[in-house]
Amino acid sequence: MSIPTASIHGEWSTRLAFILAATGSAVGLGNIWKFPYMAGENGGGAFVIIYLGFIILFGLPVMMAEVLMGRRGRQSPINTLKLLCQQEQARAIWGLIGWSGVLAGVLILSYYSVIAGWSLSYVLESGAGQLKNIDQREAGNLFKQLISDPVKLVVWHSIFMFMTMVVVARGVNSGIEVAVRYLMPALFLLLLILIGYSLTHGGFAQAVDFMFTPDFSKINQDVVLSAMGQAFFSLSLGMGAIMIYGSYLNKTASIGKTTLAVAIADSGVAILAGLAIFPIVFSNGLETAQGAGLIFNTLPLAFGQMSGGLLFGTLFFIMLVFAAWTSSISLIEPAVAWLVENRGLARVRASIYCGFATWLIGLGTVLSFNYGQNWQIFGKTFFDCLDYLTSNIMLPLGGLMIALFVGWVMKETSVKEELAMQNQVIYSIWLFLLRFVTPLGLVLVFLSVIEVI
Ligand code: PHE
Repeated sequence: MSIPTASIHGEWSTRLAFILAATGSAVGLGNIWKFPYMAGENGGGAFVIIYLGFIILFGLPVMMAEVLMGRRGRQSPINTLKLLCQQEQARAIWGLIGWSGVLAGVLILSYYSVIAGWSLSYVLESGAGQLKNIDQREAGNLFKQLISDPVKLVVWHSIFMFMTMVVVARGVNSGIEVAVRYLMPALFLLLLILIGYSLTHGGFAQAVDFMFTPDFSKINQDVVLSAMGQAFFSLSLGMGAIMIYGSYLNKTASIGKTTLAVAIADSGVAILAGLAIFPIVFSNGLETAQGAGLIFNTLPLAFGQMSGGLLFGTLFFIMLVFAAWTSSISLIEPAVAWLVENRGLARVRASIYCGFATWLIGLGTVLSFNYGQNWQIFGKTFFDCLDYLTSNIMLPLGGLMIALFVGWVMKETSVKEELAMQNQVIYSIWLFLLRFVTPLGLVLVFLSVIEVI
């Protein structure tokens, strides 16, 4: 079977379009909502350093491998794997990478959309002036009222799912590419404005101290696993999102340089988000370990007090929605592309089916914040379970399989040809990381969590 030269779904019009789309996928709720609260819960500096270590040692090599696979296969992750297995004479079992990726994407989006819905609701609250001069208790109540009302949550979740599916239905160029071109620069600008506020309103030094002074006594196996999961989640790795975006990349773009740009932008935004949020936490004497509600309990305090807070607050939550939006399209794109390829469905119909299934699963997350709070497995709610299962298990396992597949199963000639790297030293370092460091490191983390070592 020959190598396809273009995807039937389209191709990015420029290399920058790919960088923006991949950065759009990577930068999302994971950076602005999740990273700060995970760092807050897991001891700050030590978590941040371990997370960055995982980005470099596992994230970058796997990201390059994913783009490489996608660009070679030029189809949805499921079919890309099928084709690559044939070409490389590999066992069909590697096809699991594609299937587990599609499943992980749907599961992640099911709860991602609910949280994005919170952000949508805050756009409205902020725009209506509800945050003006809000105090800590009121901010807390506002958030509690939202999450304890399943009807509200379902409405926002539905709106967000609808927004996502509209873009996906429009396809690669007129949907995804157009969306990211405008949304990404705007997001970055707003984050800088927020940091400007945090810099000048106290608590900044404390925040820097918290985020960059490692206290390794806070580190245990679970923290290491969460940092690893967060590295994969944040870079959108291990489930085929970056793979499918790679499949729309033209043959001449350099994979190494583009992925590096994406990884830097992604970790940069996570750190900036922490530097914007923790000063507000400290200067208001709030708890760092507040869990999933962290930014919704803290940011309104800043917006409520700053001059122009109505505008900036509203813009900020709009940007948060945008960040989530450009990620959510990449979560569902693998499933939609597969339906188009294998079932011959039109994109619109495929989007409706996938969107509906994801929406339905999302209802479980909606309930886990109110009526279903006590439906727990291993002490975790439905939402916590999904989050743990996808970020800490499915994505790293997917990453492990991808590293093994490209590092050991694919022929080196194919890998070299696709990567077309000029610099041999960098190529060798990459291959070494992918073959040895990433898989061994990943296995060690897993083993230590199940307490084998
Ligand atoms: N990277 C996205 C974020 O940080 C989430 C995501 C995970 C998107 C996996 C696609 C695939 O919000």
